[in-house]
Amino acid sequence: MKILLLGSGGREHALAWKIAQSEKCEKLFIAPGNAGTAEVGENVNIKVDDFDGIKMLVLRNRIQMVVVGPEDPLVKGIYDYFKNDPELKDIPVIGPSKAGAVLEGSKDFAKGFMQRHGIPTAAYKTFTKDTIEEGISFLETLQPPYVLKADGLCAGKGVLILPTLEEAKKELREMLGGMFGGASSRVVIEEFLDGIECSVFVLTDGNSYKILPEAKDYKRIGEGDTGLNTGGMGSVSPVPFATKEWMQKVEDRIIRPTVEGLKAEGIDYKGFIFFGLINTGAGGKEQGAGEPKVIEYNVRMGDPETETVMLRLKSDIVDLFEGVATGTLAERKVEFDERAAVCVMLVSGGYPGSYEKGFPITGLEDVWGSIVFHAGTAKKDGEIVTNGGRVIAVSSYGKDKEEALEKSFANAKLIQFQGKNFRRDIGADL
Ligand code: AMP
Ligand code: GLY
Repeated sequence: MKILLLGSGGREHALAWKIAQSEKCEKLFIAPGNAGTAEVGENVNIKVDDFDGIKMLVLRNRIQMVVVGPEDPLVKGIYDYFKNDPELKDIPVIGPSKAGAVLEGSKDFAKGFMQRHGIPTAAYKTFTKDTIEEGISFLETLQPPYVLKADGLCAGKGVLILPTLEEAKKELREMLGGMFGGASSRVVIEEFLDGIECSVFVLTDGNSYKILPEAKDYKRIGEGDTGLNTGGMGSVSPVPFATKEWMQKVEDRIIRPTVEGLKAEGIDYKGFIFFGLINTGAGGKEQGAGEPKVIEYNVRMGDPETETVMLRLKSDIVDLFEGVATGTLAERKVEFDERAAVCVMLVSGGYPGSYEKGFPITGLEDVWGSIVFHAGTAKKDGEIVTNGGRVIAVSSYGKDKEEALEKSFANAKLIQFQGKNFRRDIGADL
């Protein structure tokens, strides 16, 4: 089968690496891809939201399946674009319809959905410019810290956690005043949940679902979870507190009600669901202890979680995608690799603030015992150079996370580029 993967980050390199291993994949195209995806398939310079360009590419190359990496084209309706086009309607898109992508595209919708289906999440209320004073009064009833979320997509910047009531009130006014443009014309204020986070992923064909390996990501730039939020500085799978008992709670209280809820609401959903969870209550140190609650839904895989989840997925991913496309996912098998997998992200100096691009990356050929996924790289005059904030994901297997981390850190030191930075404490809290 000829497959097109959309996206250009570390997540997409990891997906491309996994897809290319399938005997069912005859040829893989990636649009637009990066210097790493070019090693496992053919990059095509088309933007992920250029639907007409994608259509031409698909028809010209007789592509038989489209896998969507990032949320943006899903929220913009790429699934529906294919469904409604007579020439494309039989080519499956792995990713939800526009109506399904709203689970990520609108925090207010996601919260309402969880409420309708009894899915555990933080208590909340949504406010607009017209109800700003009610929002202020609502804040006064809450305990610090205060959690404010812009309703729409803000490239990961739309969530503010504020220590004082004064700051929360000020930020609420600014958000509703247009701080994130239309994305913050509605703001969700919610209860702060204390606990450890865990990302759980499923693939669904709209009826049944398969649970993929879980992972924990590290969002802050600084060691000890300090400093600004980033797109992700590393990840670890498995997550020790995600025991069989705990995952059973997740499946019974969160995953099944979500898939059934989508179906009950008539939402066409054939793709990944990413459950951003927090383990509240017992602190999560004991076997299966704690109560999982949903922090957010995403309608795609996580980044940098994919850079460990793909290592731990033993099954043929294209076989699973075929199950999604044909509604036969229940008949397919998902097998996990028993080993641990970790990913350490090498980032540009200055990131997540401003940073320079275009620095040559050396040492890649010396890497031994790790799998290198490119996140923000490009090829310039035959040389691989930095082309983003997050540059390279160094992923490794190990009998346990310690062994895997040792390999990733050793290779993280070998790979060089000007301003390179990485967190040396990935996995240390688990
Ligand atoms: P989101 O964009 O919804 O994933 O939020 C970004 C991050 O903010 C999450 O990964 C959490 O670390 C944090 N967060 C979001 N909502 C809450 C909450 N209700 N309580 C505590 N932390 C939260
Ligand atoms: N790792 C979090 C995300 O992909 O949104």
